[in-house]
Amino acid sequence: MKVAGIVCSPRKGGNTEIMVQEALNGAKAQGAETELLTICDKDIRPCDGCLACLKTGKCHIKDDVPAIYDSLLQADGIVWGTPVYFFSATAQAKMLIDRSYYIYANNNRLANKVCGVISVGASLGNAGVWNLFSTFFSVHHMFSTDFVYGYARDKGTIRRDRHAMKAAAELGRQIVLMVRQNLRYPEEYDIAIYRFVKREYGIDNCVSRDRFGD
Ligand SMILES: Cc1cc2nc3c(=O)[nH]c(=O)nc-3n(C[C@H](O)[C@H](O)[C@H](O)COP(=O)(O)O)c2cc1C
Repeated sequence: MKVAGIVCSPRKGGNTEIMVQEALNGAKAQGAETELLTICDKDIRPCDGCLACLKTGKCHIKDDVPAIYDSLLQADGIVWGTPVYFFSATAQAKMLIDRSYYIYANNNRLANKVCGVISVGASLGNAGVWNLFSTFFSVHHMFSTDFVYGYARDKGTIRRDRHAMKAAAELGRQIVLMVRQNLRYPEEYDIAIYRFVKREYGIDNCVSRDRFGD
């Protein structure tokens, strides 16, 4: 079993990385193989909305995002970590989320991954991160575990948040135990319900098309 952690902070060795590493330590203590991925040293570009991936299953943008997702796709469990920036996740986290469209378009391959979220803020905004990631998980049919957050501003000071550090380690452990449950969405629900309704009933979800039948 593999558990990967992706750190969406531009600050190398920062508070988010420390917490995500702690979660991976917790997973490792339960016997999981672990991998820490960071975005601070990567070229990450925004989705340009070309929608070609809906036909090709691939993203045409040449940067480090496909390699990051190649690693994440090999994991059974994923810890998504981000600092709080303006009451939500970092732009890099959001770019990664947006760029996942090609995976969604190509057999929904993130489905059934067991995921946890870690966020670190100086004061307010952790809940905004949770809001973002819970919708991301839902669309991809990933399974969500607990949301863990910490409070720190200066680099490294998260270690003083005893609750956060303990919670991070427990999150890693929880993810391993959840992976062992071998949870799977039913085969008939291989895609999110908003796409399922289109496929099964021919009713488009898109407001500008025929959602209202007129
Ligand atoms: C651009 C920017 C925006 C931020 N916005 C918030 C915020 O809305 N709420 C908050 O609690 N902390 C905010 N912070 C503080 C960071 O979340 C905090 O310093 C965190 O520990 C950084 O984590 P890192 O070391 O992993 O990068 C912000 C920091 C930056 C640089």
